[in-house]
Amino acid sequence: MNIIKAEDYQQMSRIAANFISAQIVLKPDCVLGLATGSSPTGTYGELIKRYQSGDLDFSKVTSVNLDEYKGLSPENDQSYRYFMDTNLFNHVNIDKNRTYVPDGLEPDAAKACADYDAVIENCGGIDLQLLGLGNNGHIGFNEPADAFAKGTYCVDLTPSTIEANARFFSSMDEVPKQAYTMGIQSIMKAKKILVIVSGKAKAGIVKEAFTGSVTPKVPASVLQLHPDVTVIADKEAASLL
Ligand code: F6R
Repeated sequence: MNIIKAEDYQQMSRIAANFISAQIVLKPDCVLGLATGSSPTGTYGELIKRYQSGDLDFSKVTSVNLDEYKGLSPENDQSYRYFMDTNLFNHVNIDKNRTYVPDGLEPDAAKACADYDAVIENCGGIDLQLLGLGNNGHIGFNEPADAFAKGTYCVDLTPSTIEANARFFSSMDEVPKQAYTMGIQSIMKAKKILVIVSGKAKAGIVKEAFTGSVTPKVPASVLQLHPDVTVIADKEAASLL
């Protein structure tokens, strides 16, 4: 595991964008595994700048996202599809038909998950998977558990996640209670993994996940077993390493 310490969020984002740009330049038809959340927005902003300056071409890139809320439509501004469109896809020359996010509107969970595993398989696997790190060590929606999950599955959101999301919806009924997420095995099958993490609040979990024991109680700890992982942590997130 290669750990790069960045000065701050901006530098973390620029280094992560270098990493992703290099992947696209070396293999223009690569498959990128992408994440949502506050960690990658700066990285996506940097990639957009590089596209706008003519240095980066997304025309042959395929993307697969980690997760999506069950029940949310792509037009819902809380859906991860909407996030990806507004934070990256609408601003670069990626072919939207080759950008995949689990289908939040598929009510049959078994079908949604099997379909998404087939999408990843049909793409030929993920070349580079970008990950954020949850405060409790989650990656994708893989929360602390007794065992590592394999392929895509439907996860029940914890009461605290549901409560935290409630402010974005007009009624409690609309708040998603479940999500579809790539499993740990799907993530671990990526050829390369890039984790970006920033802020003091994540310092403890960075230390636990990347230097502690490998356990499904800290899902990101499994990344220690992957042969090609780079973690880019800003000074605050890396402060306990
Ligand atoms: C997002 C995802 C999550 C986030 C994690 C960190 O698609 O799967 O695992 O990466 O919750 O979120 P932020 O970056 O908002 O701290």
